Amino acid sequence: MTDITHNQRIVAQFTRWAKPFAELPIHAQADAMARSLAACALEPTLNVLDVACGPGILACAMAPHARQVTGIDITPAMIAQAQVRQAAVGLHNLAWHIGDATTLPFAAQSFDRVTTRYSLHHMQDPAAVLREMKRVCRPGGRIIVIDATPSPETWDGYDAMERLRDPSHTSALPLDELRRMGKDAGLSEAVVEAYRLEAQLETLSDEKDMAALTAMFDADIASGQDRIGVGAWRTPEGIRFHFPVSILAWHIA
Ligand SMILES: C[S@@+](CC[C@H](N)C(=O)[O-])C[C@H]1O[C@@H](n2cnc3c(N)ncnc32)[C@H](O)[C@@H]1O
Repeated sequence: MTDITHNQRIVAQFTRWAKPFAELPIHAQADAMARSLAACALEPTLNVLDVACGPGILACAMAPHARQVTGIDITPAMIAQAQVRQAAVGLHNLAWHIGDATTLPFAAQSFDRVTTRYSLHHMQDPAAVLREMKRVCRPGGRIIVIDATPSPETWDGYDAMERLRDPSHTSALPLDELRRMGKDAGLSEAVVEAYRLEAQLETLSDEKDMAALTAMFDADIASGQDRIGVGAWRTPEGIRFHFPVSILAWHIA
């Protein structure tokens, strides 16, 4: 169960960030998107659900390759951005819902593919979300999770940095933890993939958090210890780093 306070934090954070998030080019980065679409193994006959779809970037990228794509997100401002994006790309096989990933308002076995990207690290109970994704996915279907996966050694440092940047961050699970979660849910792995997403700190953070974040990154850069685990470096424009992202796809038996 997700508690109300946490959901309110999520909605507050992503209402403020809906438009900048939707417009940030790294969220539609071509190589990352191509890898994500490949893991989804889409076909024109398939019904797809994108959980915590945000501004519909993945949903709109999947729609040309599927029969129908449904996106659901708890933040109304994100769904408003998804509708803007759908109108801009001119696709008609998309539908949007406002709702909670822990209690999806869909019947069991309603979808052939169930995806979620960059979302589990906002959940209080990611295993419950994965079980719910499994419930709505039909036998023979596929579940695809795409998320930041710090190494076990940098897990604490990575989470500390993310919580400073975004108070709705819970924890980004290392890849082995995600794999274990899939196994515990009775899922069998189809794809395990990774990519690194290069980002600019100053485009991802509120001004009020920048001093503390900069100090944290600079300590890593100066010591060369990489306690955050993102390989940060300085440029004349500011601090750059890589998000370590994994793609995990599971079959539903
Ligand atoms: C970092 S954004 C990712 C958006 C999108 N999946 C993408 O990859 O572009 C995280 C999204 O998760 C949504 N979210 C967080 N907790 C949720 C929950 N319990 N149920 C539904 N959506 C949730 C937020 O509203 C936000 O839109």
